[in-house]
Amino acid sequence: MKEEKGFLSQNRQKRKSKTEFNYSIVYKENLVGAIGLRIDRFRPYVGELGYFVDEKYWGKGIASEAVKLAEKIGFGKLGLKQIEIMMIKKNKASENVVARCGYKKEGIVRKKILLNTQYHDGYLYAKVDS
Ligand SMILES: CC(C)(COP(=O)(O)OP(=O)(O)OC[C@H]1O[C@@H](n2cnc3c(N)ncnc32)[C@H](O)[C@@H]1OP(=O)(O)O)[C@@H](O)C(=O)NCCC(=O)NCCS
Repeated sequence: MKEEKGFLSQNRQKRKSKTEFNYSIVYKENLVGAIGLRIDRFRPYVGELGYFVDEKYWGKGIASEAVKLAEKIGFGKLGLKQIEIMMIKKNKASENVVARCGYKKEGIVRKKILLNTQYHDGYLYAKVDS
C-alpha cells in the first residue's frame, strides 16, 4: 500500500473534473510520467486510460505498474465495468504494456487517435471487470 501511494503520488493528483482523474507517476522519488483515466460521458461505466513515461525510464516496468494501479482505482473506487486503452499501430511498447496487464485486443480503430495534428489508425484494447 505504501508503494502504491508513492507511485501514484496523491499530492500531485489533479482532478480536472468528475470524469477525469490524472495522476503523476513517481519512481524513486522522481516524477517520471503521468497516467489519466477519463470516464465516458455517455457510458459512465467505461473509462479510457492514457499514459506516458519519460524516455529515460523506459523498460523498467513503470508503465505496466501504473496501469495496474490506475485500473484498481477504476474498477474499485470508480466502479467502472470496462477500461479501454488505445494506441497507434506502431506503438509496440504500449501494446506490450497492455498485454502484460491482461488487456485484450478488441479491434482496429481508424483515424481515431489524434497525435501531432495527425489522425492515426490504432488498436483498441480493453479489460472488463471480472
Ligand atoms: C509506452 C510507454 C508508456 C511504456 O513505458 P515503460 O515504462 O517503458 O513500459 P514498461 O517498462 O512497463 O513495458 C514496456 C514494454 O515494452 C518494451 N519496450 C520498451 N521500449 C520499447 C520500444 N521502444 N519498442 C518496443 N518495445 C519496447 C519493454 O521491454 C516492455 O516489454 P515486455 O513487457 O515484453 O518486457 C512509454 O514508451 C511511453 O511513454 N511512450 C510514449 C507515450 C505513449 O506511447 N503512451 C501510450 C499511449 S497509449
